[in-house]
Amino acid sequence: MMIVYGAGSEELGVKIAEQLQVKARGVESKIFPDGESYIRFTENLEDQDLILIHYCYPQQDKKLMELFLMLDTAKDLGAKRTVAVIPYLPYARQDKRFRPGEVVSNKSVGRLLGAVGTDILITIDVHSEDSLKSFSLQTVNLSAMPLLAEYLKTLKLTRPYVLAPDRGAVIHAQLVSSILKTDYAHFEKHRDRVTGDVVTDYKDVGIGDRDVIILDDIISTGSTIANVAKVVRSKTARKIIAVCTHGLIIGEAEKTMRESGVTDIISTDAIPSKFSRVSVSTIISEALRKIL
Ligand code: R5P
Repeated sequence: MMIVYGAGSEELGVKIAEQLQVKARGVESKIFPDGESYIRFTENLEDQDLILIHYCYPQQDKKLMELFLMLDTAKDLGAKRTVAVIPYLPYARQDKRFRPGEVVSNKSVGRLLGAVGTDILITIDVHSEDSLKSFSLQTVNLSAMPLLAEYLKTLKLTRPYVLAPDRGAVIHAQLVSSILKTDYAHFEKHRDRVTGDVVTDYKDVGIGDRDVIILDDIISTGSTIANVAKVVRSKTARKIIAVCTHGLIIGEAEKTMRESGVTDIISTDAIPSKFSRVSVSTIISEALRKIL
C-alpha cells in the first residue's frame, strides 16, 4: 500500500499514514502561468495499491481536475488499484434533476471517477448515500457523526437537545442523540430551486432550559442553521451549537449564524478551517485497514 497526498492535503495525508504506520508521499506539483496544474508522481507506482488523499474543496473544479489527472496517471504508471480519499465530495448536493434540463453533477463526477479507473472511493457523510449507487466503482461512505458526538460529550452540555434542520439530517441526529443518550427532533425545510432561499417549517419542541445542538451534514451559507437558531433562541437562553461534518462556511455565514443566536460552530477537518475540532483521519485509517 502506498499513500500519496495531493497538493494541499499533506496534513491529512501524513496523519493517516502515521496511523497506518506507513510512509506518506507528496507529489511534485506546480501551477502553470495559464492556471493549469502540473503534477508528477515521484515514486514507482507499479503493482501498488495507491491510496490517493486529495481535498477537493475549496476550488472544487480545479481540485477535481487534479484528482482525475492523478488517478488516470496512476493506472497509466501501473498502479494495481487506486483508492481515492475525498473527505468532502463536491457536487454531491446536485444529485437529481430538480428542474428540467439541469445537470446531475453528482452522477457526472461519479462517471468521471470511473472513467479514470478509480477502484474505490472513500468519502465522508456524502449528502445522499443513495446517490453513490449510480457510481460504477466501490464506494465507502463514512460517518463523522460518532467523532462529533464524542467531542460534544467533552463540552459537558446541559441536557443537550439535538435538532435536525431538515429531513435529510434526521439520520445524523438519530446517531448523535443516541451516543449522547438524549432526544432529538427535526424540522422541515423547503429550498426555492431558483433563488436558493430557504424556508423552514417549525414544530413545537420541548427545548426548555437546555443546550441545543443544530446538526447538519453541510453548513454553507448558514441560512439553514440560522433559520432554526432564531426559533431556538426565542425558547432558550442557553447555548446553541451549530455542528456539521463539512464546514464550507461561505462568506457571511459565520456572522449570519451568530446574529441568529448560534454561540459556537463546530466542524470536522473534512474541510479544514478554524471551525475544525475533530479529525476525520482516524475513521479514514480504520476504513483503509478494513479494505486493504
Ligand atoms: C442540504 O440540504 C444540506 O444538508 C444542508 O442543509 C445545506 O447544504 C446547508 O446549506 P446552507 O448553509 O447554505 O443553508
